[in-house]
Amino acid sequence: MQYKPHIQNLPAYKPPKLLSGPRADLVKLSSNENPLGPSPHALAALQDALGQVYRYPDAASVALREALAAHAGLSFEHVICSNGSDEMILLICLAFLDAGDEVVMAEGTFISYMLRTLEMGATPLRVPLHNYTHNLTAMAQAITPHTKLVFICNPNNPTGTANSAAEVSAFLDAVPPTVLVVMDEAYLEFVTRPDYPDLLPDLRAGRPNLVLLRTFAKIHGLAGLRLGYAYGSPEVIAYLDRARPTFNVNSLAQAAGIAALGDNEHVARSRAHADASRACFMEGLRAIGLAPIPSETNFVAVPVGDDTVVSNALFERGFSVTPLGIWGLPGLIRISFGTVEQNQAVLAALGQILPCG
Ligand SMILES: Cc1ncc(COP(=O)(O)O)c(C=O)c1O
Repeated sequence: MQYKPHIQNLPAYKPPKLLSGPRADLVKLSSNENPLGPSPHALAALQDALGQVYRYPDAASVALREALAAHAGLSFEHVICSNGSDEMILLICLAFLDAGDEVVMAEGTFISYMLRTLEMGATPLRVPLHNYTHNLTAMAQAITPHTKLVFICNPNNPTGTANSAAEVSAFLDAVPPTVLVVMDEAYLEFVTRPDYPDLLPDLRAGRPNLVLLRTFAKIHGLAGLRLGYAYGSPEVIAYLDRARPTFNVNSLAQAAGIAALGDNEHVARSRAHADASRACFMEGLRAIGLAPIPSETNFVAVPVGDDTVVSNALFERGFSVTPLGIWGLPGLIRISFGTVEQNQAVLAALGQILPCG
């Protein structure tokens, strides 16, 4: 076989540790899912849609895109849907990158940006975080004539930090109009800081080089259905649409997505649960002598010494969390918020592993 070296050299996906068999009781706090599950309206919509699964889905996701457009005060032409926002990251890289192009991103951010860049034979330029936050000044300076894309994760997975509206606005002003800025807002619904940027007005005003990535996997609790979307200029959206596999969004995801989007109560409940969990983790982690990074998301990153040792010790006690050494942040672990009981239990386990320092 004549494999492409830049794909052959990618790391193989390693599934998280056993979720079946002897560890079926494992408490999974490693994927930033919603412990409250999906909206009851989304579940009802799924039931209603089940009988139609013998048919192909609407290839253009028309009803869902209309709902998403109305949700954001944008037009249908500003919206595209995908099989999870992970697929959108792939689509963007596929559509914009040639071998040798450069992509600016942070070092210590969502790993897909780097993997999909490498997959195209392009070069990631990774800019270190500053105080666990995207250093947008340094990222703007890292752009060269070969840069096609910039990925910004705001709030950032895995550190949970967010950039302010002023920082993002200064960054957008500094970026050449030929470089596409991909702002991944997977966790936007969890943000509490008041100066978090609302970039929809930029799109309404016609900014051509900005794409906002969103997902139904986090606050909407539909991770298993695989549903993501993006808002962008009609020109960029139409371009991405050409690169999209025809039936990339299945019919169940389309039906559930519309119902989930309309369930403000479930979103508010999920946000309130994340707020309470965050307070619980901040207090609990500090009580055992740790210094958690302030979080704008549904997870918390915390320096623990040896991230592998501590993650393995938690695993032995029945909890799966994410060691961040492989994300470029050695010494930190990321813990997703679980139910009230799970939060208390993982804190108690950490307290046993790391007695008060
Ligand atoms: C920042 C960020 N972007 C994108 C994704 C992918 O989301 P999806 O499940 O919609 O593919 C994740 C998932 O963890 C994420 O954390």
